Amino acid sequence: MLGTVLVFGHIALMFLAVMMSYGPTLMFLLALRSNRVENLRAVGVAVQPVVRLIPVAYILAAVFGVAAAVVIGHDLFVPWLVISYVLFVILLVIGAAYAGPHMARIGDQVAQLPDGPLPPDVRAAAGGRFVWFEVLDFVGLLAVIYVMVAKPFS
Ligand code: HEM
Repeated sequence: MLGTVLVFGHIALMFLAVMMSYGPTLMFLLALRSNRVENLRAVGVAVQPVVRLIPVAYILAAVFGVAAAVVIGHDLFVPWLVISYVLFVILLVIGAAYAGPHMARIGDQVAQLPDGPLPPDVRAAAGGRFVWFEVLDFVGLLAVIYVMVAKPFS
């Protein structure tokens, strides 16, 4: 019973954390695609209150995950759990050290600009490498979900 409650808490908190982190990123990419300063600025301001809660939700979700593993009786070093720790940390580092600060910098760049099309330097900062990192971020998320469900090598 406790194991079920903890798995439920783990999944619910992961859903919340994924919604709060991938949601704003998707809105940011769509605002970039619209090529309008005012859209990008509005998204940056609107998502601010949620962005601060992202680390809290992910850490709580991971704590519930580890607690569920202990209560269910999984070995904490079984391969599927080790793979999920590694992927989870890689995704957190991409978000906290690259994607988050990069979006914040672009937000600062457009904060004082007049409404209108995005200037070339903002479009350059928001193109290529950033988009590929976001694709990697999303593929990583799918990979962790697969590992959770299929529990490979166990
Ligand atoms: C620190 C990393 C993580 C740990 C320690 C962890 C731990 C666990 C444990 C112990 C279970 C229960 C498995 C069972 O029923 O026997 C589970 C299930 C699940 N976890 Fe995680 N998890 C982690 C990361 C994630 C992430 C990042 C996601 C998705 C974003 C996720 C989504 C799920 C889902 C959907 C299930 C249900 C799978 C099923 O019952 O088939 N987990 N997790």
